[in-house]
Amino acid sequence: MKKVVVHAPGGFDRLVVESHPDPTPAPGEVRVSTRAAGVNFADCVVRMGLYQSAKDYVGWPITPGFEFAGVVSALGEGVTDLELGAEVFGVTRFGGYASEISVPRLQLLPLPKGLTFSQAATFSTVFLTAWYAVCELVRLRPKMRVLVHSAAGGVGSALVQLARLAGCEVVGVVGGPRKVQPALEQGAHAVIDKSAQNLWREAERHAPAGYHVILDANGPETLRRSYAHLAPGGRLVVYGFHTMLRKNAGRPNWLKLAWDFLRTPRFNPLEMTDHNRGVLAFNLSYMFDEVELFLEAMRFLVGERAQASGFEQACPDPLSSRARFDSFEFADYSVRSWTCCSRGSS
Ligand SMILES: NC(=O)c1ccc[n+]([C@@H]2O[C@H](COP(=O)([O-])OP(=O)(O)OC[C@H]3O[C@@H](n4cnc5c(N)ncnc54)[C@H](OP(=O)(O)O)[C@@H]3O)[C@@H](O)[C@H]2O)c1
Repeated sequence: MKKVVVHAPGGFDRLVVESHPDPTPAPGEVRVSTRAAGVNFADCVVRMGLYQSAKDYVGWPITPGFEFAGVVSALGEGVTDLELGAEVFGVTRFGGYASEISVPRLQLLPLPKGLTFSQAATFSTVFLTAWYAVCELVRLRPKMRVLVHSAAGGVGSALVQLARLAGCEVVGVVGGPRKVQPALEQGAHAVIDKSAQNLWREAERHAPAGYHVILDANGPETLRRSYAHLAPGGRLVVYGFHTMLRKNAGRPNWLKLAWDFLRTPRFNPLEMTDHNRGVLAFNLSYMFDEVELFLEAMRFLVGERAQASGFEQACPDPLSSRARFDSFEFADYSVRSWTCCSRGSS
C-alpha cells in the first residue's frame, strides 16, 4: 500500500509518498481500500507540527487525513456485518492519506446511495464539526441571528447550511468577492465580504441587537469583537485559529504565532456572567470514543441517502449532496489540494 508520510514538521516538501505493507485489521477493525481521501485545513496544521492532538495521539512520523471512502478489503476478527467489496466511507484519527487503511468498524458507514467516493470522502469532517457546534453545543432555534465567519470554507459552508435548515437568520462573512455567491448558495441570507466592506459595521447593520450565535475559527483576528457582538444570552463558538497562519505560506511564521498567541483574548467567567454571554470551544479529534454521538450526527446529516443504505432515521434535506469540494488526483496531493487549503481559497 502507499501512504503519504510526514517525518518531521515543515512545508509541502515534507509530504512523502511511501510504500508499506498492507495493514492487518485488528479484532473489531475493517481494512478499506481507499478510492478518495478528504483534505482539510487541519491537515496543513498537522504537517506544520502545530496540531496538538496529532502530537498527543501519533507524534512523528505521521500520515495526515481524517476521512476517506473506498471498498472493504479485509475484515478483522468479530466483524460480521460487512462484506468484502462493500462500499463505505469513514473517519479516522489521522492516517487517511493512504491507499489501505484499517479502522474500527464503528467508524465506517455504508456509502450513501447516489454519492460518489469523492463526495463521501469530503463530507464527514466538515459536517460533523458543524453539527457538533450547532446541534450539540448550541441548540439553534428558528429566527436566531447567526454569524458564520469563513462562510464559504468547508466547515463554514456546512454551518451555513445547518443554520439555514434550523430556520435561523444567517449572515456569512467571507474573505474575498469570489466567495460571496457560494456563501449565498449555501443558504446565507446576507454575506459580508470583509476584503471590501467594514466587517463589524456591516455585522451591526444586519443585526443591530447582536447575534445569538457566532461561529469563529479565525482566532485572534476576530474573537474579541465576535464576543462583543453577541446579543444577551448569545454564544461564541470557537473551533479553530486559522488566521494565526499566513495565507499562501507552507510554513508558520513563529513571530506572528507568538504575537497572535499573546493577543488571543482570555475570557473571564466573572465577566461572561455579568455580560450574560458564553464562549464554547472544542476539537472533534479528541472525541473519537463518542461513537453514539457520531452515529447520531451521521443519521441526521446523511438523511435520506442513509435511509436508502439501511439507516433508520432520515433528515428531510439530504445535505450530503451539497457538500462543496474540489477533486484532485492522488499524484497531485502536495501541489494543488494543500496549496488550496493553505492560501485560504476554499
Ligand atoms: N475544532 C474542530 O474540531 C475542527 C474540525 C475541523 C476544522 N476545524 C477548523 O475549522 C477551520 C476551517 O477548516 P476547513 O477545513 O473548513 O478549512 P477551509 O475549507 O480551508 O476554509 C478555511 C477558511 O479560513 C479562512 N482563512 C483565514 N485565514 C486563513 C489562513 N491563514 N489560511 C487559510 N485559510 C484562512 C478562509 O476563508 P475567508 O478568507 O473567507 O475567511 C478559508 O476559506 C480551520 O481553522 C480548522 O482548523 C476545527
